Amino acid sequence: MKKIWNYCKLSLLAMSLFGVSAGLMTSCQEEKQPGAAGQSEAVIENIMTRTSIRAFTDQPVDEATVEKILRAGMAAPTAVNRQPWAFIVVNERKQMERLREVHPFAQMLKTAQFAIIVCGDMERALPGASQAYWIQDASAATENILLAAHGLGLGAVWCGVYPNPDVLPKVKEVLGLPSSVIPLNIIPIGYPAESPTPKDKWKPENIHYNKW
Ligand SMILES: Cc1cc2nc3c(=O)[nH]c(=O)nc-3n(C[C@H](O)[C@H](O)[C@H](O)COP(=O)(O)O)c2cc1C
Repeated sequence: MKKIWNYCKLSLLAMSLFGVSAGLMTSCQEEKQPGAAGQSEAVIENIMTRTSIRAFTDQPVDEATVEKILRAGMAAPTAVNRQPWAFIVVNERKQMERLREVHPFAQMLKTAQFAIIVCGDMERALPGASQAYWIQDASAATENILLAAHGLGLGAVWCGVYPNPDVLPKVKEVLGLPSSVIPLNIIPIGYPAESPTPKDKWKPENIHYNKW
């Protein structure tokens, strides 16, 4: 009888603990969701006003801002939550010049304050045919970085590296990357010295419903 009573007491304790934590989770989610919904116009505005920025002022970017941008990158979704990425922050002028020399379409590195190179690490990527998901993972991180930079008043541009055979090995060499690490792109970042009009890419003919 005593055993049964102890069991009941334990069950009650577990139920009440679960109830408290479930309640806490619900209230956290409730707090978060209305916040995000309330900001939806700002989120859409940020997406729709982002443009590639290729000229930068000499205003420095502080470390806290750089970290915010990196945090946004790492908040991106990845296949099986694998997060098979690495982010190389280049903020030494000499190193930025070396990158500029090996990437003909990343000449804006000249005025950028820093650059992030988004890489995939094949040692942490999914096995077999699923390995190629790293490209989508790193691309999702890249778009988050571009949007975060724009939202923070900075400008940035995605300069493709992978799979360009003329640029890829040179970027790997400049950065001293291990063979398993592949640079997807170089993202030069800084405060904008230009304000191009965002391109209107809305083309309803690109949308198909239910079937091609
Ligand atoms: C995979 C990829 C590679 C790109 N490579 C370069 C590049 O090497 N140099 C560059 O100036 N822009 C590059 N861009 C930026 C595109 O030119 C730009 O996103 C496109 O023209 C649309 O303009 P928007 O970003 O202002 O909307 C690249 C973009 C992507 C997605």
